[in-house]
Amino acid sequence: MPKVFVTRKIPEAGIEKLKKAGYEVEVNPEDKVLSKEELISFLKKGKYDAVLALLTDKLDADVFEVAKGSVKIFANMAVGFDNVDTAAAKKAGIMVANTPGVLTDTVAEHTFALMLAIARRIAEADRFSRSGKYHGWEPMLFLGTDVSQKTLGILGLGRIGSRVAHHGARGFDMKVLYYDVKRNEEFEQEFGAKFYPTPEEVLKEADFVSVHVPLLPTTHHLINTERLAIMKPTAYLINTSRGPVIDEKALALSLSKGWIKGAALDVFENEPAIEPEFLKLENVILTPHIASATEETRAKMAELAAENIIAVLSGQTPPNLVK
Ligand code: GLV
Repeated sequence: MPKVFVTRKIPEAGIEKLKKAGYEVEVNPEDKVLSKEELISFLKKGKYDAVLALLTDKLDADVFEVAKGSVKIFANMAVGFDNVDTAAAKKAGIMVANTPGVLTDTVAEHTFALMLAIARRIAEADRFSRSGKYHGWEPMLFLGTDVSQKTLGILGLGRIGSRVAHHGARGFDMKVLYYDVKRNEEFEQEFGAKFYPTPEEVLKEADFVSVHVPLLPTTHHLINTERLAIMKPTAYLINTSRGPVIDEKALALSLSKGWIKGAALDVFENEPAIEPEFLKLENVILTPHIASATEETRAKMAELAAENIIAVLSGQTPPNLVK
């Protein structure tokens, strides 16, 4: 009976799928991230045929060296796979898969939730109400910024970036600008969007900048001191991609000086650590990497990761093979 290791408790739907396919499923008994050494020790003991992994697992050459010859696939339960050294996996003859598509709407919704929350000062106002400071309606209390009809700048027009643009254009009559390494003229026509070949042009014009690029050597600190300085002092920055895409020290300085108006972040440069300067600021909203965290979507992600494993263990190419 093929053996599958799941690196941490995940929605039951994924486990069920693997069991129904006739596999023995072993789940990390502790609901915590495994260190690399702990993962390696499980792999040595278990001789698994497949591993269902998470974005918090660092899958590098040392891991693949141990897994080689036994594990055929590491199925990452995430769309991003910057936690995986894909070249090392390839060298070890191990496939890697991810879970795109099923989380697009959910992440786009969270992006908009953050955008509205920072523009309308929701977290700040909630803290105010809870602390007993509300003594009656005031004409000047918590004045925020409108989102409707503003300019939305998308950095990275993949599935999620396109969906956020859709919500902006269709739901809030926003003017959409985008930067991507690839131009998409069909998208431009559909949403009246404008393409810019550099991030600078988007940053200069946008009222809301939403980041949707994958984390690559070329996108590390894509948002840095120089680029933050280009943004309007009235602009907001939203990040639901990966933390290291933004230089957090530079962002904290920009927010504290009022060089931009606000930011809303779901991801951080050194997760789970949060830049201490952010904690002192009211004009930043911080959510703990939960953009895809709905019951429906996390179940679908677990199922899709299981399907990737089932395909490989049945001798087929997984539907979401990372090349
Ligand atoms: C979440 O961050 C994911 O990549 O799925």
